[in-house]
This record gives sequence, C-alpha cells and structure tokens, in this order.
Amino acid sequence: MHYLITGGAGFIGSSLADHLLARYDDARVTVLDKLTYAGTRENLQSAEATGRLTFVEGDVCAEQTAREACEGADIVIHAAAESHVDRSILSGQEAARTNFLGTFTMLEAARQAEVGKFLFLSTDEVYGAKTEGSFNEESPLNPRNPYSAAKAGADRMAHAYFVTYGMPVIITRPSNNYGPRQFPEKLVPLFVYKALRDEALPVYGDGRQRRDWLHVEDHCRAMDLILREGEAGEAYNIPGDNERRNLQTIQIILDELGKSESLIRHVEDRPGHDVRYPLDGVKIAGLGWDALVPWEDGLRETVRWYVDNQDWVERAIKRGEDFHNQWYAGRK
Ligand code: NAD
Ligand code: DAU
Repeated sequence: MHYLITGGAGFIGSSLADHLLARYDDARVTVLDKLTYAGTRENLQSAEATGRLTFVEGDVCAEQTAREACEGADIVIHAAAESHVDRSILSGQEAARTNFLGTFTMLEAARQAEVGKFLFLSTDEVYGAKTEGSFNEESPLNPRNPYSAAKAGADRMAHAYFVTYGMPVIITRPSNNYGPRQFPEKLVPLFVYKALRDEALPVYGDGRQRRDWLHVEDHCRAMDLILREGEAGEAYNIPGDNERRNLQTIQIILDELGKSESLIRHVEDRPGHDVRYPLDGVKIAGLGWDALVPWEDGLRETVRWYVDNQDWVERAIKRGEDFHNQWYAGRK
C-alpha cells in the first residue's frame, strides 16, 4: 500500500508515518511537506531509516507538485495545515491559503489521479464552542477563528468532492493532540519549555477553558482504523475522552517538572477563545475504537520527552521566535 501524507514532517503526520511503517511491512509512505517553521525532516528520522519513506519538499497549494505527489498513491492523508490558532489570529493569510486552497488543490489532484481513498484531517474546532453537551458529526459547523474557519471551508470542500464526483473522501475531526514532536507554540510543549527555565506561564484568561486531550499514538490508531473500516463520504469525530480544564493540565506539567504554581501568570485572553468543544464519540466507537493511552501517564511521559529532547525543542523555538515575541509581547 502506498500512502501519501501531506504535512508529514509535522507533529501528527510524522507520527502517522511511523505508525504505518511499523504496523504494515508492505507500507510505503511519501511525505509531501513545505517545511515551514513547523516541519522538519528530523521528525522523519525513524521513518526514513526504514528505507520505505520518500520525502518530497513542496507546497500543497502548487497544482503540479500536488499532481505529481498523488501519482501512484493508493491513499492520501491530507494533514498539511497552518495549525496554530494564535498565528491565524495575528495573521490569517497562511491559514486561509494552506488550509483552504491547499485542501482544494490536493482534492483536485487526488481526483485526477483517481486515488483509492482521501482522508482529510479536519478538527473538532470546526464546531465552534459549546458549554453543555457535545457535538456529533451532524452538528452544524460554527468556526470562530481564522484557523478553524479555513479548516471548516476545507472540510465542506472535501465533502463536496464526495457528493459531486463520488470521490472516496473521509473526514476526521480529532480533539487536541498531545505527545512527542509537537511544535513548542502549543500549550503542552510551550509550557514545559518555559517552566524548565522558570519563565512565567502565560495562561489565557482564567485558565478554566477545557480541552479534550488525545494522545497522538491513539490518534494514529484511530486514523488507521477509519481508513480500513470507515465509510466514504462520512465524517468521524475522534475524541480523547480526557476533558480537562487548562489549569488542571498545567498543574500536572508543573508537578512532573517539580516546579511551583507561582510560575502561572494570567494574561489577556485569546480573542474568540473557544472555551470548550467536546465530541460525541459514538460513531467511531461503533468501528470498535477506544483510546488506549491513560491521560496522566501519557502527559507525564510527554513532558519527559521534551525534557529529554531539549536540543530538538531549542531548534524549534528558534524557528518560531518571531511569532512568539510578537504575540506574547502584547499579552499582559
Ligand atoms: P503541525 O503544525 O505540527 O504540522 C503541519 C505540517 O504541515 C508541517 O510539517 C508544515 O511544514 C506542513 N505545511 C504547512 N503548510 C504547508 C504547505 N502549504 N504545503 C505543504 N506542507 C505544509 O500540525 P499538526 O499538529 O501535526 O496538525 C496536522 C493536521 O491535524 C492539521 O491539518 C491540523 O489542522 C489537524 N489537527 C491537529 C490537531 C492538534 O491537536 N495538533 C487536532 C486536530 C486536528
Ligand atoms: O482541538 C483541535 C485543535 O487543537 C487543533 O485543530 C489545532 O491545530 C491545535 O493547535 C489545537 O488548538 P488549541 O487552540 O486548543 O491548542 P493550543 O495548544 O494553542 O491551546 C490549548 C489551550 O491552552 C487553549 O484553551 C488555549 C490555552 N493556551 C494556549 C497557549 C499557547 C494558553 O492559555 N496559553 C498559551 O500560551
């Protein structure tokens, strides 16, 4: 089986490449990635060592690149995106371009190449926010920031390719991932980095917002299952069933590092902050799926990974420095 993973040099895409290559001896993986600040070939070292990974540097918005990458692929997993909400708030241009136009370009290239399956990694953020209850796959999409609005447009474009052309598209809407190799602009790796240096941890607003955490290995298992058992034209939520307030998550990080809660600084909230977007997981449970990684153990192991891989973190921090300085300078 030949898989094409776009955005495969990033956090989730590289974990999926590792998962597929380890699980299937006959799997070949091509990664198409632009290597933005968020992507690095370092993330693909173990995958490349199998000899069954081909790396292509390129932009998913470029038609010819997309067409060439799709040729010969049995399955496309489209993960490339500008994935950080705060960056999209500072400037939505890259999110609009990559997340929407890039998805359209990949869908069209995959249609022309007649690929057997196209999995689009959407996000639970397309549903917007909900203080009570949960979203199922039929809930209306109500995205509230430029990142998730561009993803929602792409989510509907993917669905339109199924309806209009009968293309075998599957959409997944996973919750917040955690695990090794996440770019240190997201809550968990950023706060580990800062706490290790005894720097203040910038908690947006009161820190009582909630996220449902999904370990990236569970996420990869879920995508693998959906590729095998899911139905074309359908969307699947992938919850982690670990809904926690941000302050609860931060307390575990501090505890694992032996650091004091006095590092916490409440700063100006993220505009349009989605306080909670819980997922109903009945549909994916019907495929026989359940998350395996226990939350607190998984988080503590993740924290240890960042402690043990500080060179990797330092290099990433440098690539993200301009955004970091601009964004946090304004948050008092
Ligand atoms: P990431 O930022 O770690 O990786 C994104 C990758 O895409 C990087 O390697 C980057 O170089 C590449 N990329 C960006 N623009 C590109 C372009 N124009 N052409 C080619 N490659 C490009 O992101 P991630 O956290 O691994 O997220 C992967 C996907 O999963 C995204 O689509 C994101 O929206 C979705 N998602 C993420 C989460 C999460 O918690 N991280 C949850 C739900 C959904
Ligand atoms: O739910 C899926 C989404 O999860 C994905 O679609 C996105 O790609 C991914 O980035 C993530 O979005 P979030 O905005 O939830 O992740 P982030 O790690 O940026 O923030 C998690 C929570 O922590 C959120 O409530 C905001 C808060 N936060 C984050 C940062 C970076 C802070 O309080 N301070 C911070 O400095």
